[in-house]
Amino acid sequence: MCGIVGYIGDKDVSSVLMSGLWKLEYRGYDSSGIAVIDDGDLKVRKSFGKLMQLQELLQREPVGGSLGIGHTRWATHGEPSDQNAHPQTDCNGKIAVVHNGIIENYYTLKEELIKRRHIFKSTTDTEVIAHLVEEEFRGDLKEAVLKAVEKLKGSFAIAVISEDQPDRIVAYRKGSPLIIGLGRNENLLASDIPAVIGHTKEVVILEDDEMAVLKKDGVEFYTKDGERIEKQVQEVPWKPDDMDKGGFPHYMLKEIYEQPEVIRRNISLRIRNKKIDLGENFNFTPDELARVNRIIIQACGTSWHAGYIGKYLLEDIARVHTEVDISSEFRYRNPVVNGETLVIAISQSGETADTLAGIREAKAKFLRVLSIVNVLGSTIARESDGVIYINAGPEIGVASTKAFTAQVFNVYMFTLYLARLKWTIQKEEMLKRLSELEGLPDAIERILKRDDVIRGIAERFKDKKHFLFLGRGINYPTALEGALKLKEISYIHATGYPAGELKHGPLALVDENMPVVAIATRSSVYEKMLNNLEEVKSRGGVVISVVTEGDERAKAVSDYTIEVPDVPEYLSPIVNAVPLQLLAYHIAALNGRDVDKPRNLAKSVTVE
Ligand code: M6R
Repeated sequence: MCGIVGYIGDKDVSSVLMSGLWKLEYRGYDSSGIAVIDDGDLKVRKSFGKLMQLQELLQREPVGGSLGIGHTRWATHGEPSDQNAHPQTDCNGKIAVVHNGIIENYYTLKEELIKRRHIFKSTTDTEVIAHLVEEEFRGDLKEAVLKAVEKLKGSFAIAVISEDQPDRIVAYRKGSPLIIGLGRNENLLASDIPAVIGHTKEVVILEDDEMAVLKKDGVEFYTKDGERIEKQVQEVPWKPDDMDKGGFPHYMLKEIYEQPEVIRRNISLRIRNKKIDLGENFNFTPDELARVNRIIIQACGTSWHAGYIGKYLLEDIARVHTEVDISSEFRYRNPVVNGETLVIAISQSGETADTLAGIREAKAKFLRVLSIVNVLGSTIARESDGVIYINAGPEIGVASTKAFTAQVFNVYMFTLYLARLKWTIQKEEMLKRLSELEGLPDAIERILKRDDVIRGIAERFKDKKHFLFLGRGINYPTALEGALKLKEISYIHATGYPAGELKHGPLALVDENMPVVAIATRSSVYEKMLNNLEEVKSRGGVVISVVTEGDERAKAVSDYTIEVPDVPEYLSPIVNAVPLQLLAYHIAALNGRDVDKPRNLAKSVTVE
């Protein structure tokens, strides 16, 4: 989705803006641009296509100055083009605006503005903001922006500059993320923390209907009524290196390899003195949790798969009836709930529009909401009653990897915590399960050491047009996740199925051209799974299996195998997901795909 940046200070403004935009590239975009006040004049440079095109434009037509705003655009209103790229400007080319979100009433506003003789240059919804600010400007940009946003419906994070007040950037947030980075004699704004982390670790997260006025020597914060407010400054525990590829060819591969460390970090944060600690933002009391008799998990994509695994865990271990719903469905259905229903939202970014809408639906029904989130202070985290952070660190690759395994880990922690409150497991069993976790990072490391085996399989199958992924029980969602990883980054059709469903339809697809990727590790459904693989083999299918180390029986019904260490069944999705991530990665990379930024996709889906 769109990314916005802003900078005011003594550094080379176009370089700072560009480096921020590169950091936001992961969000997905189709055009980009910057606007600066250079020698008292507003100058805009923007281009359709990749950031490299904007960079080349800036080399041909450089700009200077000490403040500016920048944008990566993911088209919603108006096709991707130079004209529709942001920043958008007013009639006189004195005011520039960048915007992330959607202005729902832009059409009506545009018609009215045209009647009042405003001239539009783009087909974006954003341009109305520039013209509204132009109409309201009486020498004070802050006042003009406050009056303009009163007329806007929808979700937006905006940053505005004017050559008539060239010492400030005015930013406003309603519904779309916006953070302010506080430096020494310089200040920044951005849609996400990675864009400011090279300059400062001190950030302020704007809430809805809050405004920031950035000057070189300080930032002032206001409510929508123009009242001055104080905001809490947070220190971001990230290093600038966290944003680098660290010698890996892609962020996705780096993030796959970070999983042992992420799980280690979570173990040390979540288990203290042999007890589960869900963190300082958890906010739920033991009494209210003990009363919960129904859970609805809602999420999208990979996070939904983590939630689906959660259903198996919560029902089996904590014995609480659990539904799992895709957020875009949940938000429009009318589920049967009661006062003891807990809604859990799972999201890496914490900004996914459908998941956020699901939370708002739940709250409208007076339900309590727990979110399981990666990004600190994100909208979903802030709108939930309590949060469990998954501590995965910044995930840049569009394909979610380390966030998935960290989500499953934290769902498991919550399950055990709830199970103790509900007395569905005894203390000894709890201690046993906690001690089992210690082997998890090493188990993942062992799989990473077999990466060359997985790459070899990827080479053999990279030209296939379709893949079928099979799993059973708690590894059925893992199979769905494997299929999603493959299709989103390789553009190869892949579909996931519960293996028991094979003979109810998908078996008809099986032949030598449809590789079947199966999760056949030892488990409560192991025998059933082997029977399913026999069915595939006897129809001439080619089977690639994830099997438990040394398991000759599973190898006998497979053409290719990837061995993984033996771990308890409820931890197996964390381990089994890793070879599937690597398989997808290698197939995509061998096919020359843009692994970190697959076509048509964005990292953070902030529109419906
Ligand atoms: O940030 P979220 O976890 O809410 O994002 C949900 C999905 O958009 C996301 O998981 C998506 O499916 C990924 N590209 C999968 O790799």
